[in-house]
Amino acid sequence: MEKVTLSVIKADVGGHVGHSAMHPKLPARARKELEESKKGGKILDYCVTHCGDDLELIMTHRGGVDDEEIHKIAWDVFMACTGEAKALKLYGAGQDMLKDSFSGNVKGMGPGVAELAFTERKSEPVLVFMADKTAPGAWNLPLYKIFADPFNTIGLIIDPAMHDGFTFEVLDAKEGKTIEFNTPEEMYDLLAYIGSTGRYLIKTVKTKKGEPCAASSTQKLSQIAGKYVGKDDPVCFVRCQSGMPAVGEVLEPFSFPHLVTGWMRGSHNGPLMPVSVKQATPSRFDGPPRVTCLGFQLNEGMLGDPRDMFDDPSFDQARSMANKQAYYMRMHGPFEPHRLPPEDLEYTALPQIQERVKHRFKPV
Ligand code: 13P
Ligand code: 13P
Ligand code: MG
Ligand code: MG
Repeated sequence: MEKVTLSVIKADVGGHVGHSAMHPKLPARARKELEESKKGGKILDYCVTHCGDDLELIMTHRGGVDDEEIHKIAWDVFMACTGEAKALKLYGAGQDMLKDSFSGNVKGMGPGVAELAFTERKSEPVLVFMADKTAPGAWNLPLYKIFADPFNTIGLIIDPAMHDGFTFEVLDAKEGKTIEFNTPEEMYDLLAYIGSTGRYLIKTVKTKKGEPCAASSTQKLSQIAGKYVGKDDPVCFVRCQSGMPAVGEVLEPFSFPHLVTGWMRGSHNGPLMPVSVKQATPSRFDGPPRVTCLGFQLNEGMLGDPRDMFDDPSFDQARSMANKQAYYMRMHGPFEPHRLPPEDLEYTALPQIQERVKHRFKPV
């Protein structure tokens, strides 16, 4: 059977109001554009949503990963929506569109991309996660728990189809190199790297037999632009059930609102709060960082109706914990570890201050 490709491509093309949410005209325009591409036969199906001020295009097609036409479609949608955002004078219109013209692949041009091509199973549940006010390292902890922690995923112990464990592909974002680790046998080696969430990013996860299970966007905007232009606000998706983690095992790590980098001015640590799409409106101190999840049952490449997975009272406690943590972190004001250390600050006035006061330093 011909493989289906799931491409989740996102960009911040303007916030309403500030960086807090999405103006309804943007997703409306994106749907109009993608409907045309669907009629043209290049994409099988699409779903447009948003997380905070990030526009999310979830698309299925037969073109495989890194398909130039698909990337061009996404780029053109973001450009069209940038036009809408500029006309509305939205904040940061075209924020993630870092290049003037399309050059074959949206990677390295600003938008974030997570893609996998796979053979659709008898039943194919997929969960798509989207975050705002954070960076791709935010997925390390949940992906580790989903695929390698038996205290999270009981299937690793009691499902013979999962008992072999999984292979993690980790990107060294500084050196631009990847390495694979097998779990459970190399679990400590894996953790030695992925605990450093700013540099080592889980890019994909597959079964030991090579069946792809999960992919995340690992593009880092500040590396592409060479300066702070907003946070990466990454996406990630996970195939579920039948030898892969169950839907509930994939959602479970998000019941713990772990600390991630991002939040105000991309320069603070704060809890990642799981929310419904409606509640993906980071407002307090431009946060706290949010994660949403749409679930799909693929059907011959069609996405069908999405389910808003965090729109559920069983995540109320996680949201309440996140709010408590947000208060605790906020009380540190400009102090670390709420504010990031100088080397990780997305932007800083420190060099100017240093220049101005340096002559006042006296040797001790
Ligand atoms: P500006 O108001 O200068 O854009 O900075 C604040 C902010 O929101 C960063 O994106
Ligand atoms: P975004 O990356 O979501 O645009 O947020 C930018 C920011 O600086 C918020 O304070
Ligand atoms: Mg923004
Ligand atoms: Mg954003």
